[in-house]
Amino acid sequence: MNDKQNIFSGIQSSGFLTLGNYLGALRNWAKLQHDYNCIFCVVDMHSITVRQNPAALRQRTLEILKLYMASGIDGDENTIFIQSHVSAHAELAWVLGCYSYMGELSRMTQFKEKSGNQHENINSGLFTYPILMASDILLYNTDLVPVGGDQKQHLEITRDIAQRFNSIYGNVFKIPAPYIGKVGARIMSLSDPTKKMSKSDENVNGYIALLDDADTVMRKFKRAVTDSENEIVFREGKDGINNLLNIYSAVTDETIKQTEQKFEGKGYGEFKTAVGEAVVECLRPVWAKYRELSENIDYVEEVYKQGAEKASHLAERTLKKVYKKIGFIPAR
Ligand code: TRP
Repeated sequence: MNDKQNIFSGIQSSGFLTLGNYLGALRNWAKLQHDYNCIFCVVDMHSITVRQNPAALRQRTLEILKLYMASGIDGDENTIFIQSHVSAHAELAWVLGCYSYMGELSRMTQFKEKSGNQHENINSGLFTYPILMASDILLYNTDLVPVGGDQKQHLEITRDIAQRFNSIYGNVFKIPAPYIGKVGARIMSLSDPTKKMSKSDENVNGYIALLDDADTVMRKFKRAVTDSENEIVFREGKDGINNLLNIYSAVTDETIKQTEQKFEGKGYGEFKTAVGEAVVECLRPVWAKYRELSENIDYVEEVYKQGAEKASHLAERTLKKVYKKIGFIPAR
């Protein structure tokens, strides 16, 4: 290993990704890949805490993997893999489960939320979800984890579990920290800009799916909810315009101020079209690369197989150490 720090992150394959995922995660990950040892995982095992259609799960998993690559993450320089291909994740999760408390797990906001809205399927995987996530992170001597605000609590519990284990057995796990990048704006729903842009929005006009086509992107932006004024400025109470300004500034790398100046005196219609066009321009290379990868599925397979091999090698080392410390007899 070199002396770069290790970064680990993952996305669940339970649905398609949105513009928010791209601007908030993928695009930033691609920028980290030369300065860190990056390990990016498609966490298919986490996805089954919610019932999945098998064919759809297979398709989503591949789709996300291809989107990692289409966003510019290089599979040779980094490790890109699928969680279920590396059995050490499930194995370490069992062990760490015996070092995690019911009390701390029941305090997880995400568990409370998810168990609140899927009454018919409050399975134990939903409850132990953070333990599997802790295993993901701890297997790879991870220094930094780029995560959004909603995952901070899971990273906290990962640190607690690791510290608890270390205090019994010595320095087994590296204690990971959150990676705080340049704070990207939170991308809000286009139909209700007081809510975060979400793929589970029942109104499809609320979100831009990363694989929407150009016409759809344009149509959704033209319908974006704004306000009854006619001023393109960033100001409290102008949630719709603020969101469009944030999006425009994120995809063009211009500041909000520059954008305000550029559109001074212009109408909302013109502005919405400009935002749509800028987003299309930003996504075009991703779409092109995605299409190319879809036509070259052998290469994609090669990348995730090679990724799983690299990841297994690292993960097995950690798992072996853990087993030895606990008192399990080595099989070989
Ligand atoms: N729980 C994360 C999410 O829903 C996904 C995830 C699983 C993850 N394991 C991880 C993120 C490890 C970072 C590191 O967004």
